[in-house]
Amino acid sequence: MCGIIGIASNKPVSINIINSLKKLEYRGYDSAGLATLDNNLIDEKKCSGRVDELEKILFKNPSNGNIGIGHVRWATHGAPNIINAHPHSSEEVSVVHNGIIENSDELKKDLEAQGFKFKSQTDTEVITVLVTQFLKNSKPLISVFKTLKKLKGSFALGIIFKNFSNIIIGARRGSPLAVGYSKEENYLGSDSYALKSMTNKISYLDDGELCILDKDNVEFYDVNQKKINKKIHTVSDDENISDKGDYKNFMSKEIFEQPATIKKCLNEYTDSLKKDINIYNFPIDPKKVNKIVLIGCGTAYHSCLVAKYWFEELTSLDVDIDIASEFRYRNLKFNSSNLYIFVSQSGETADTAAALDICKKNKVKTCSIVNVVESTIARNCDWVLPIHAGPEIGVASTKAFLGQLIVLYILALKLAITREDIDKKDYNNNIKSLQKLPEAIKNTLKLESEIQLMAKEFLDAKGSMFLGRGNSFPVALEGALKLKELSYLHAEGYPAGEMKHGPLALIEEGLPVIVIAPNDRYYEKTLSNTQEVIARGGKIFFITDNKKRLLSTNIRFRLRVPRVDNLLSPLLLTIPLQLLAYHVALLKNCDIDKPRNLAKSVTVE
Ligand code: F6R
Repeated sequence: MCGIIGIASNKPVSINIINSLKKLEYRGYDSAGLATLDNNLIDEKKCSGRVDELEKILFKNPSNGNIGIGHVRWATHGAPNIINAHPHSSEEVSVVHNGIIENSDELKKDLEAQGFKFKSQTDTEVITVLVTQFLKNSKPLISVFKTLKKLKGSFALGIIFKNFSNIIIGARRGSPLAVGYSKEENYLGSDSYALKSMTNKISYLDDGELCILDKDNVEFYDVNQKKINKKIHTVSDDENISDKGDYKNFMSKEIFEQPATIKKCLNEYTDSLKKDINIYNFPIDPKKVNKIVLIGCGTAYHSCLVAKYWFEELTSLDVDIDIASEFRYRNLKFNSSNLYIFVSQSGETADTAAALDICKKNKVKTCSIVNVVESTIARNCDWVLPIHAGPEIGVASTKAFLGQLIVLYILALKLAITREDIDKKDYNNNIKSLQKLPEAIKNTLKLESEIQLMAKEFLDAKGSMFLGRGNSFPVALEGALKLKELSYLHAEGYPAGEMKHGPLALIEEGLPVIVIAPNDRYYEKTLSNTQEVIARGGKIFFITDNKKRLLSTNIRFRLRVPRVDNLLSPLLLTIPLQLLAYHVALLKNCDIDKPRNLAKSVTVE
């Protein structure tokens, strides 16, 4: 993961580097650093912890250089401390890196045998040493090319040079890298968001490419060291994302934004007058699609799981789903009439991007469902369906999950009508049901005060279980993921019917068990599974949309969300679980927007 920034300007750059690093903190937040060139010396400042710490260091001891690079780290090689924080500098160069150098141990051994000493445990420092070595006989551009040839793995790099004090070199293999343009100032950044306050004119490096920038010019080179031109994109200037408003943190803002984001997404994709869905240009004729293959990681994978139920229910299509980190290493049989759909909020997740590359190599048609439309995954797919959720800053995904669900549902519906798997009446009714969602989500959010009370019951818990059946099973998985990542409380998500095959052994007096039980065809079965848990002492938190109180005794808490079409119930049932995880974490004083050990965009394998 990690985030990198580089600025070449005609004025001091450290304040803008700090501001950009704050935006990049979603990519890593265990240490931070920057280096500027001041009076032909590399001025490096680093800290463990957050960018705020780095800002304090700069406040006491400013950096005045007009050219500089910065970094926020998510540790891969070596503990998150000040020595391992980037940049990694020699007398001659300073390097920031996002990615993993897979052959760093080998390279390090060779270099140590030649007498080089390493200060850190990072993989990045080999880059510093190699570039410094090559600079003895070559110019910066050639030194970097020579270095890149020796590296295996993934990287986005930013490098400054003591004796070539007007340039920054950037290079990309695997990890994303953007270039921004402004008057007498040019930039390098892990994404356009980091550069947004300075420019909306952006180019993206492709794999193997390199750029060299000064305050007035940017040159690009391909992997063969040939000069190339890159397209300049104008990045949309959407809502004011860096503002939490009256909310305590981004996560609560994003949870409460869900009625609005879902409304926006529905407006983009549905035509309520014509009662139709605005999705065209399928990369494969819908009638000729053989199978849908859905791929994602974490929460995005959970949205694929929910969608599997929808595609199976609404269409005659076969559906496969896979976790991207598994998909990329399996011995798969690719089929040109399958549509491979990649779901990712960030569009930068390394495993998902690698799975997409494999599909591209096998020349099959690909679609991405992403939030960040300028992302690598979006740019590399044949077809992009944005979720229009607006930037999601909290590390735990909330509004993007609901956005992914909506787009997947809409896609399933459109495929169903185009393939004549459902009739026009059902299609229209389904679109009508979708329109009711924003209001239903708003009403679900009103359950917050009840959920706050519920959260108290989790403070002394040793663990917890989330149970559901049918399309509530992935909701259970998502609820468990939210609780563990935010509050660090162990949580298991299980299909309720599977409990008796092992996990029932975990149930003991007082263990919190969250049962997700909409009034669907599984309802009675889920009630029986709940009884089995009650009989063994489990403390039940029952979340349903059923008005009837079929189970009333031995239920510790009962929450009722509004009733919508059964297929759409996962969207509403997820919300209490988001709020539960949020309030447990708040009571435990956890860092809500930046849970420990995590990062928003997982750009390493
Ligand atoms: C959990 C969470 C992660 C992400 C996963 C994939 O709250 O946010 O599990 O869903 O890392 O990220 P994207 O969707 O950016 O590919």
